[in-house]
Order: sequence, then structure tokens, then C-alpha cells
Amino acid sequence: MLKITFKFFFMPAVALGLTMLVMNLLFGVKIVPEGSVEAMEKFMQGEDISAESGQASIGGDFMLTNQHGDVISNADFKGKLMLVYFGFAHCPDVCPIDLANISAAMEMLSEEEQAQVVPVFITVDPARDTQAALATYMESFYRGFQALTGSQEQVDTAAKAYRVYAKKVEMAGMDDYMMEHSAYIYLMGRDGVYIKHFRHNDAPEVLVEGVKSAL
Ligand code: NI
Repeated sequence: MLKITFKFFFMPAVALGLTMLVMNLLFGVKIVPEGSVEAMEKFMQGEDISAESGQASIGGDFMLTNQHGDVISNADFKGKLMLVYFGFAHCPDVCPIDLANISAAMEMLSEEEQAQVVPVFITVDPARDTQAALATYMESFYRGFQALTGSQEQVDTAAKAYRVYAKKVEMAGMDDYMMEHSAYIYLMGRDGVYIKHFRHNDAPEVLVEGVKSAL
């Protein structure tokens, strides 16, 4: 997230700032209105800024394979709420925190409520996150999680539908690599339509409140 903020928010912000300054000096034009910094950050992370008003077209069709080897599409969750999160199993800190928060939120729901909500983890690193790798990784989290992987194309389709930003980053002098990725938790309705999103590190109580209001 820090890398994303620097490369995709700060640098363009500097460029935009210089442009604004020049425009202001030359033509007296003020381009960016108040409160636009957050909007720009969201834009840099690939999210439609109209998301706040519920108008964003976040979500869509996907066809992937879960950690148990079952072929899963979005249609399999029709009639249930989804909590959708994109990440990767090698993520050192961001993903584990959010997956743990989603897990804790699920455990705070009653059995009856849990039956109506499917937490979905979709990898942005299918090369390493095979079905077997996800099966092992998800042992640390809520048992009802659907952890999904597939071909790069299948994963890209899902990520694009959710407007998720993900990029492979090579580590100098190491065989390993990281994935930069946006880290929103999307609450999707029983019809598969976007309701709202939560942010990285939002507490389980916040997730529970959002979910309950949609049940
Ligand atoms: Ni992550």
C-alpha cells in the first residue's frame, strides 16, 4: 500500500500540482476543487470515485477454482451476500490483517447470519497461489472462506470487474517478487450488485455493522 501511494498517487500528484500552478499563473485557472485529494488517491488505485454514492459498477462475472478444487462462478453465490477481497498468500502484512478481520467479523455473526454471507478471497498471484497453496494458506482463516484462483486470464477478468489494481514487483537481488494491489473489501448484495466497500484495516465491528445492515 505504501508503494502504491508513492508511485501512483504522490508522483502524479506532483505532476498535477505543477500543471495546476502553471495554469493558475498563466490563465488564473484553478483546476482541482476542495477535497479532491482523496478522490484522486482512489482514482490512482483504480477505483471509481462514484463508489461512495453507490453508483460505481464494481463487480461482475468471474469463473475460478476454489481451494477445494471446485469450479466457482459468481452465480454460485446468488442469494447470498459476498465480502470480496483480492490479494495474495505471500503478502507480508496487508492481506493477513484484512483476512483476519474478515474472519473475525464472520465469527461475530450468528450461525443463521453466517449462512447468508460468503467471504471470497481472490488471488492476484495465480502463479504461486495454486489451489493447493490456497488450501494451506486458508487454514489460518475462517473455514467458510472461498479462496479462488485460476488462469491469469480468469484472475484478470475478476480483478477488472472489481476495478482492482494489481502489479507484479520484482525484488532486487531476490528470486521472490511482491504484488502491489489495492486492498478494499467489497460488500456485494444477494443479486451480486455492489453495496459498499471497506478499507484496509477496518475493524471487524465495522464489517459486521455493514453486513448486518445489508442482511
Ligand atoms: Ni496484500
